[in-house]
This record gives sequence, structure tokens and C-alpha cells, in this order.
Amino acid sequence: MTANLENMAGLRRTHYCGELGADLLGREVVIMGWVQYRRDHGGLVFIDLRDRTGLVQAVFNPEEDEITHRKSHDVRAEYVLALRGLVRPRPADMVNPNLATGGVEVFIRELRVLNMAQTPPFVVDDHSEANENVRLRYRYLDLRRPAVLKNFVLRHRVAKLTRDYFAGLGFLEVETPVLTKSTPEGARDYLVPSRLNQGTFYALPQSPQLFKQLLMVAGLDRYCQIVKCFRDEDLRADRQPEFTQVDLEMSFVGQDEIMEILEGYMAEVWKGALGLELDRPFPRLTYEDALRRFGTDRPDLRYGLEIVDLSKTLAGCQAKVFAESLARGGCIRAIRAPGAAAFSRKQLDDLVDFAIEAGAKGLAWIKLADENWQGPLVKFLAEGEKAALAEALGAVSGDVIFFGADAPAVVASVLGQVRTRLAQELNLVAEGDFKFTWVTDFPMFEFDAQARRFAAVHHPFTAPREADLEFLAGDPGRVLAQAYDLVLNGHEIGGGSIRIHRPDVQAAVFQVLGLEPAEAREKFGFLLDALAYGAPPHGGCAFGLDRLTMLLAGATSLRDVIAFPKTQKATCPLTEAPSPVSPGQLMELSLKLDPRGKK
Ligand code: AMO
Ligand code: AMP
Repeated sequence: MTANLENMAGLRRTHYCGELGADLLGREVVIMGWVQYRRDHGGLVFIDLRDRTGLVQAVFNPEEDEITHRKSHDVRAEYVLALRGLVRPRPADMVNPNLATGGVEVFIRELRVLNMAQTPPFVVDDHSEANENVRLRYRYLDLRRPAVLKNFVLRHRVAKLTRDYFAGLGFLEVETPVLTKSTPEGARDYLVPSRLNQGTFYALPQSPQLFKQLLMVAGLDRYCQIVKCFRDEDLRADRQPEFTQVDLEMSFVGQDEIMEILEGYMAEVWKGALGLELDRPFPRLTYEDALRRFGTDRPDLRYGLEIVDLSKTLAGCQAKVFAESLARGGCIRAIRAPGAAAFSRKQLDDLVDFAIEAGAKGLAWIKLADENWQGPLVKFLAEGEKAALAEALGAVSGDVIFFGADAPAVVASVLGQVRTRLAQELNLVAEGDFKFTWVTDFPMFEFDAQARRFAAVHHPFTAPREADLEFLAGDPGRVLAQAYDLVLNGHEIGGGSIRIHRPDVQAAVFQVLGLEPAEAREKFGFLLDALAYGAPPHGGCAFGLDRLTMLLAGATSLRDVIAFPKTQKATCPLTEAPSPVSPGQLMELSLKLDPRGKK
């Protein structure tokens, strides 16, 4: 490091780099920022200076100011500079139409080096391709890159639109505790040991679910909070261990009113952030239809490729895989992939492997080339069956039909995944397309065969449909919930429900879930008490702010829209969290590590 550091004394920034344009020609400006590039043309030296708003070219001319020109030689990439100079037009042949400030340059009269920088581990620009671990380790450098930064400008805008929208409708922002008791949302809790109450633990909230319900009991009527939630679960591209919810709750409303308000919220965000008008109302699918037609409860509706049930059409078919599935009470379903007859044999084989990986026993296919049908099962199809099949699917020459034959849940899951993959391989997903859908009428419970008991599909505070209350005790599997998810392009971006506001119903639901009354009281006694003190009918929803921003930004990972995200293994490469603590800290908490313990 060579340069002498200076301070800003007497210099005050007059403009941001990205603001400099023709309207400032002839003006003296002071800009401050980081060195993007420095080019030495023998005589003239050029430095591109960068700040949050963009880049501008600074020029050092030895004939105009020799001392400043000489100083510019010591400057390196990512040095922090203050520059004072005159805005001038660029010579006509030097105008850069790709740069917002490309019509001007600043002739520098004073340069101060405010700080030096080591050579960065990667070039700080949008073209550099450092691996993600390095980018996260030096996230503050990564965030200097315009393409990374722009997602955080967007995220800020979404948060602001959110607050303004809900405040405009009378929602109050109330903060809820982070050191609290477990709220079951289906994941493992992060625990925090208590020093003052040895041997006991707080749980970090998986969501503020119970607190927002208590706020309704308290009469706050409408609540909305942008809030951190914590879930210790297996991570994926669209799952982080700590993430942010737009969490809200309302009193004296029904499901339709909530959905209207939430559609308005989406419209406001899409208009404010992207300038797009959304068509409303959003389509609605029942959970059952979503699974049957798309194989998942978060269908991507940007393309067709619907799953069609052929159990009746092929009821008499001689093919063993079909007949056996039907005999075991299973079903036969298929997807028509338009134009897939052009797939190579390897592509088809890979799809079969993919289906088997996804849990299928196989993936029969039929290729339609004019009168010539090819595929492992064609020989078992009677002419009448072929015609019925083609009609049921609308199949034409050039298509491939993919079949699943198994228990309905297996077929749905497998063909749902095959559908997503086909859409990619057939290039059916248009960029910048946004397809929303509600999914409603979820079952209240699902049977966990391993644990041999029912679990809540949404969460245990979700209200059953009025008409199904009578089945709670005798036949919980058929009870549907007043729950709704909002799905966008195959991602669940929000989920909510009408809540139970009667203590007797809440107790009955706990019972279905196998919570003994004593255990229910120990875990959720405070909720049962509150419900007994005049709880209004209420309901709400929570959106994943990270997921929303990711989809708005056209990004594919939540890490692109979280300033300091965790890796797949829930670590932070920047701070190296989680990390060991001192024996003293453990002792204070009366905790002892057992190295033989489960890894
Ligand atoms: P739910 O569990 O569906 O509902 O969560 C609401 C929304 O939060 C987002 N989300 C996540 N985003 C990133 N990483 C994660 N690990 C993660 N988990 C969830 C999703 C999801 O739709 N208390 C209820 C809401 C309610 O009933 O009002 C709840 O938390 O976008
Ligand atoms: P097999 O009779 O096992 O040789 O399978 C004949 C064809 O049917 C192969 O193309 C398999 O991939 C396919 N297949 C096997 N089991 C199933 C199933 N359960 N669902 C759909 N296709 C299957």
C-alpha cells in the first residue's frame, strides 16, 4: 500500500456518480466512491468512479493539472476516492450509449484518496464469475456489483409498498417477540438456552402465528408486520433457515374478503415494482383439483401439460402395468407433451430414470408419428383404445404421451415432477410471465403413516369448514380446512387460513393431533385461555417476502435477494456462524457438550 490517506475535510459531496448528465455541463461537482477501472493512455488517465447509483468517467489531464494527474497513478481498483472537477461533454466519438452518464466526463482538479483497498478476490463487476462461497465470504464486495445491488433496491421497494398498502387499509404494525415458545409450522425449532432459568429454552418463532391471534383477541382488528421467522429444516433454493414474512391478521372477516385484500396487495406490488397490471380475480383451484390436474398443490400455470386421468379409458387394456395398477385400486394418468416426438431416445430414457428417481416404477410412453405409434406398450393397445386415448388427450402427430400407473398419490407426485421437467425441455416457460393461482380446500389433517397419527396440513390453529365440524371426532381424514395458499409460477408465496376462535373446537383439533389435554395445556394453555376471553372470528395470511422478491427479480435462489444469506448447510461464510462457544459460556448456561452425541 503506497498512497497517503487523506480526509474529506472541507469537501462535501455534491452529486452521486450516476446523476451526472448534460444538465450539469460546465458545473463543478464533488463525487465520492470506488474505483471501478483505471486506464492510463500515456498522457490522459481515466478512472471510472462507482457509487450506489452508477459509474461516471473521470479524466486526468497532465496539461491541465499536473499534480492531480500524477496522484492518479497511485490509484488501484476499489480505492475510495473523493474527486472535485468540471463536468464536460465527451468528444462525439467517445460518447458511450450503454452508460447512463456516457455523454459526459469530469475533468478532475482535486483527488483525495480516502481509503485504499487490497486487490479484491474477484473483479467487482457484473461479468465476474466468482463461485458463490467466495461471493458470500466477501459479500460486501459482491453487493457492490450493480446486478446484485439492484435486487436490494427492489426488495426495499416491495417492503415500502407493503407497508403503505396495509397501513392504508388500517393495519397496525406491531412487533412480536423473538425469544418465545414453540409455534408449530412443521419445522424443527431453533432453541435458545435461558441463563436465568437454567435448563429451560426459548424457541425462535417459526412464525408469529399465535401472537397475531392474541392481538386479534386484544381487539387490534388488523395487524401486519414484516418479520423474521426461523425454521430448522432442510434447505433448498427457495428455503432459508431465517426468512422474512409479510405477516397479517384480520378480525370479523371471511375467506373471500381476505383473498380480495391479498389480491389487491399483489396488484399494488406488481404495479409499483414492475409497472405491470395484474388480471384479477386470480383463478382458484381446490387442493384436490390441483393434485389431480397438475400433480402438486403449487402448480405452475405458465404452461399447460395437464395431467389427464385415463383409468376409465384404459380400463380394459391388456398392458400389465396398467391392469395391475387398476387391480390394486390405483389409477392410470397421462401427460401429452406436444412436439416431444422430436426427443432423442436418450432424452426419453433420461425421463424414465427421472420418474423412477421420483418414486415411479416406470414411465411408459407412446410416440405419435402419423399412423405409426411407437413405445413399449403400443402392442397392447386395441385400435379403439388408441382412438379413445388420442381423443381424451387431444393428442396429434408429433406428440409423446407419458403414463403413470400407480396409487393416485404416487402418480400425482411423479407426473407433477415430469410435467415441470417437460416444460423446461420443451421451452414452454416464458420469462417475465406471472401466473397466480389460489389453492383452497386443503384437507385439515394428513395421516402420518410412520408416526401412526394425524398431522395438521396447515397448522393446528386453522379452522375446519363449518360443515365438516361433525366429522372431527369420528373421521378427521375427511375434514377440509378453511385454508388457502397463493401460488405464483410454481412457488408457494403465501399461505393462510381462517382460525379457530372457539376453545372447544381448538381442544378437539388438538385431540385429533394426539395431544393429550394436559400436554395441550402445557404447550398452548395461553392460547386456550385467550380463546375463552372473547376471541373474535379472525383469519389471516403470511407471504414469504424473500420468495416474492426472488420472483419479482427473476432470480432463481433466495440467496440473491437476502443481503447476508446462509448456505445450503445453514452456515454464514462471512461471519463463520455457527461457531463454537467458550467453556465459560456453556457453564453459565449449565450446558455440557457430549461429543458422543448424535451428529
Ligand atoms: P407458512 O408456513 O405457509 O405459513 O409460511 C408462509 C410463507 O412463508 C414462506 N416461507 C419461507 N420462505 C423462505 N424460507 C423458508 N424456510 C420458508 N418457509 C415458509 C412461504 C410461505 O408461503 N403462520 C402461517 C401463516 C398464516 O397462517 O397466517 C405460516 O407461517 O412463502
Ligand atoms: P415393464 O413391464 O416393467 O417392462 O414396463 C413396461 C413399460 O412400462 C416400461 O416402459 C416402463 O417404464 C413402464 N412402466 C412400468 N411400470 C410403470 C408404472 N407403474 N407406470 C407407468 N409406466 C410404467
